Amino acid sequence: MEDKAEHVSVLLEETIEALSVKPDGVYCDATAGKRGGFAKKILEKLATGMVVGLDADPEAVESLKADIGGDRRARIYRANFRDMRELWEEEGLPGLDGVVMDLGLSTEQLADPRRGFSFSSDGPLNMKYWADGPGPTAADIVNEAAEEELTEMFFRWGERHARRIARGICDARRSGRIETTGRLAEVARKSAPSARGGRDASTLIFLALRAEANRELEALEKGVRAAVDLMNPGGVLCVITYQSAEDGLVKRLTRKMARGCRCDEERESCVCGEGTADIELVNKKVIVPAKEEIARNRRARSAKLRIVRKLTKEPQ
Ligand SMILES: C[S@@+](CC[C@H](N)C(=O)[O-])C[C@H]1O[C@@H](n2cnc3c(N)ncnc32)[C@H](O)[C@@H]1O
Repeated sequence: MEDKAEHVSVLLEETIEALSVKPDGVYCDATAGKRGGFAKKILEKLATGMVVGLDADPEAVESLKADIGGDRRARIYRANFRDMRELWEEEGLPGLDGVVMDLGLSTEQLADPRRGFSFSSDGPLNMKYWADGPGPTAADIVNEAAEEELTEMFFRWGERHARRIARGICDARRSGRIETTGRLAEVARKSAPSARGGRDASTLIFLALRAEANRELEALEKGVRAAVDLMNPGGVLCVITYQSAEDGLVKRLTRKMARGCRCDEERESCVCGEGTADIELVNKKVIVPAKEEIARNRRARSAKLRIVRKLTKEPQ
């Protein structure tokens, strides 16, 4: 039987097929995780090539180093993909033939109460991929953000009861800091007892806080742009998302880039005049897992894969 606490890679076959790994190519698994599901599959197809595995989480990186770090074709770094460009420069890494970003959390991270990602078990309200890294924890945000900021944050991630839950948090923290996942989940449930559709009142609140603590949307935009810059012509970028806010960003951003627009992702109308496009969209329609994959792995049910290819600079 499948171990529920063991991460199973999502859309693995579809992604590896899209990368069409060359034996002497250079690839980056930008969210390799503890198990490096994509990095290992790429390694199987390499001869003289290289796979660079990144993860923001030092614990995941230590495990992965112990697993495949001894392979001379693998280079593993603790790094946020938002900083890829700087890492490539510092380490003198070669141009890339393909990049995979498989966003969010691994099953192991979610199941570990010390990390504070889940409302199903009690633990410190941390939620950072690099738990001791710079920047505020989820607890700092919950206890220090203004009520209006919390409301906006929860709305952005789709919580209909954002205002009530934000008010509930601000009332609760008057009698002491909210430091644990259990306490936050209790406050959320009390503030929005009528959450419909069987979804726990904490689901979107936890998602919003994790995204905020890790500045995920900002990292995603920077990471996609850096990956495209670092790729050789013909290089393929595959992005797997699990949330509509992430998928929406990837969709808008890659469409803009495919038109040659260099404006910020959130700018609605173009002011840059659209130059030569850097990329083309490989799949105009998003790729989702087959029914069989979802039946085997529930986590796959919300996954979406978008693929783009880097173009040559010369006009075609
Ligand atoms: C879904 S898991 C990856 C699982 C892996 N692809 C596999 O199949 O074995 C996502 C991983 O991305 C990492 N992560 C999330 N955001 C990141 C970022 N901005 N930069 C680097 N790693 C990130 C998380 O720490 C986590 O280990």
